[in-house]
Amino acid sequence: MLDNFNNHIENLKKHSHFRNIKNFSDKDEKYIFSANKKLINLSSNNYLGFADNKAITQEFLNTCDYDYSFGSASARLLTGTLPVYNELETLIANLFNKESALLFNSGYHANVGINSSLAGKGDVIFSDKLNHASIIDGMRLSEGKFFRYPHNNMDALEKLLMRERKNFNNAIIASESVFSMDGDIADLKKLVELKEKYNCILILDEAHAFGVFGQKGLGVSETLGIIEKVDLIVGTFGKAIGSMGAFAVGNKVIIDYLTNKARSFIFSTALPPINIAFTKWIIEKKLPSTYEKRMQMLKIGKNAGSDSHIIPIIIGENKETVDICEILYQNGFFTLPIRPPTVPEGTSRLRLSLTTEITEQEIQNAISLAKQTK
Ligand SMILES: Cc1ncc(COP(=O)(O)O)c(C=O)c1O
Repeated sequence: MLDNFNNHIENLKKHSHFRNIKNFSDKDEKYIFSANKKLINLSSNNYLGFADNKAITQEFLNTCDYDYSFGSASARLLTGTLPVYNELETLIANLFNKESALLFNSGYHANVGINSSLAGKGDVIFSDKLNHASIIDGMRLSEGKFFRYPHNNMDALEKLLMRERKNFNNAIIASESVFSMDGDIADLKKLVELKEKYNCILILDEAHAFGVFGQKGLGVSETLGIIEKVDLIVGTFGKAIGSMGAFAVGNKVIIDYLTNKARSFIFSTALPPINIAFTKWIIEKKLPSTYEKRMQMLKIGKNAGSDSHIIPIIIGENKETVDICEILYQNGFFTLPIRPPTVPEGTSRLRLSLTTEITEQEIQNAISLAKQTK
């Protein structure tokens, strides 16, 4: 029986698809230390440097006014919850000026739970073709039907809505704001227009934008002033916030529904209290003073040809992509090859992500090296 798995692995290796977890000895906000090498980390979602920052971790622990434990021991619906969980939910709801918020253990849990439960029998989800795997997995688990429209193609979405909307009860449009592997931004104004015209629920995943875009760091919906028009916003704490977990924020009916129906929330042990307290502390105490740095980072991204802090360099073939990463590695840059199924076949790439620590010169050097090698 193991032969089948082994054949599969050999096949992955043959096509430069095989993945293994790279080990490093240490890392900080900017560098990865691996095999006696100090490499600039261009592969991180630690956009504001809050993760792996020993001084920040220590400052939090010093100011932490309660001995939060490192385990919650159960799901929240099973044994209740410490005040800090509700405090974080209230903080999120207030920041977005929405009625209610719900914490999830990760963005993956959030998207799987939301998309599988909100679309029931007779309902439909319209999803951008490049939406994250967690949205796709949520749709697959849903009892509703789903359609994937070509990436950011609003004409195609409208055609689909014209043809299909009338055949279903509830309809959901699901999109990321900043696309995780392409760094481009959804046409949010048009999405709002279409969701209003065709009476849909708009779910926006701001995983890579929360903590980066907007005066308060709430995401692209804040930048565009359309938070109130989006029915449900999802954000993660594992990226710019440097912690772990995620939230969904919207009106009370939807949040109550998710609390009762989202299985990834109901049937999983909650994150540890210490983690929830850290997330709350970062959002309250650290995020507000990052505006200038965030704007500078986005400017560097723009100068590098991206709409955001994520800069894709599309190579095409797997092997070539792996080889270019290796050359970057030899020259002091850490980035891992992004291959299918994370991205569509034939579009393997480097996904260079900026942090507020990375300078314009450093990213430009990495880009020219990658391009000249290509
Ligand atoms: C758009 C998007 N949504 C959700 C997730 C999952 O978030 P998490 O890492 O918190 O599970 C990711 C992770 O990369 C993502 O890119």
